[in-house]
Amino acid sequence: MILKKISLSNFRNFKNQELVFNRRLTIVAGENSRGKTNLLEAIYFVLKGQGFREEKEEELINLNFSRGKVTAVFEDNGADNVFEIDIDKSNGKTVKIFFVDRTKKRLILYKKELTSVVLFTPDQINIIKGAPSLRREYFNAVLSERDDEYKKHLNNFENALRRRNRILEKHVSEIKLRDELSFWNDYLEKESRYITEKRSEYVVYLNNHKKLDSKMFSISYLRNDFSKKNLTEVFPKEMALRKTLIGPQKDDFDIIVQDATSKKDIHRYGSRSEERLAVFWLKINELRYFENELGKPILLLDDIFSELDYHNKKIILNLIGQYQTIASTTDEEFLKEIKSDKEIINL
Ligand SMILES: Nc1ncnc2c1ncn2[C@@H]1O[C@H](COP(=O)(O)OP(=O)(O)OP(=O)(O)O)[C@@H](O)[C@H]1O
Ligand SMILES: [Mg+2]
Repeated sequence: MILKKISLSNFRNFKNQELVFNRRLTIVAGENSRGKTNLLEAIYFVLKGQGFREEKEEELINLNFSRGKVTAVFEDNGADNVFEIDIDKSNGKTVKIFFVDRTKKRLILYKKELTSVVLFTPDQINIIKGAPSLRREYFNAVLSERDDEYKKHLNNFENALRRRNRILEKHVSEIKLRDELSFWNDYLEKESRYITEKRSEYVVYLNNHKKLDSKMFSISYLRNDFSKKNLTEVFPKEMALRKTLIGPQKDDFDIIVQDATSKKDIHRYGSRSEERLAVFWLKINELRYFENELGKPILLLDDIFSELDYHNKKIILNLIGQYQTIASTTDEEFLKEIKSDKEIINL
């Protein structure tokens, strides 16, 4: 599926604008605050039904208006299809209405007709730099996107975990506590098994695709099983702290980079560019992963080139070549270096 053009009406800082995209590479250029990220967000929005940085949906509508609209034309097997989302704010409530070829659709059906999208933004460096919860969130998002069962088991697990913690917080005798927990222990063990298995499978997949130019990236899964065996060991401590202490909500992932001279954990020892390349390694594999399942995804790169040297920029440009890519940059000089067929949108 190829994005041919998009029309924005009162979306973020845009009033009325139509933009046309190249089949391979489109560069969105412009100084700070011109709307580069907003344009990428509009593309993301029309593909996913939500933006990637709003706290409230109304933020997507231009500040001075109460209605906004994004319309996109995608080409699929030679035919053009029009996808549109209207956002309407009235009486303090924001609603979105979805259309495919002018026919109203429910979100779930609307999304079924669209390809997937992989987004790469500067703050995703926190997947590497940040707390383990951010890495878990990232893997949850990747796995849920493709696997409804994963989403369901994760949801069940999180709800049951809250129930179990509430029971642990009660001041009751150990016998009563054990009795009340027994159902939830079985349930959590069952639900967590699916989550752990799918995370392991994705880690195996990533480790089968280690190479990025001359570097080798890999990942190790520091899994924390919610098993009867671990539970026996940890239960006295859980009683003292009144909290569940094991399970996939405590998993972490180490991301390692290796070249001819060294091998290191990037979270602890990586330089800024190594962190960025590690995110790129995750993202390029996310693309390949979704490609198998859902056809070719569209790749959105928001301002990711700025911290990379010429060589690393080239690595990225070479790898993204096979996907329709829309990339933003403030770097005029870099634009001259891109020799491939491209469209430049100057905002
Ligand atoms: N709902 C909205 N209505 C009007 N303006 C908005 C809305 N949301 C964001 N903006 C404004 O849109 C402008 C462009 O934002 P955007 O993040 O797209 O800039 P950018 O070109 O990516 O800049 P940078 O190079 O700094 O990343 C900003 O001035 C922002 O405050
Ligand atoms: Mg921006």
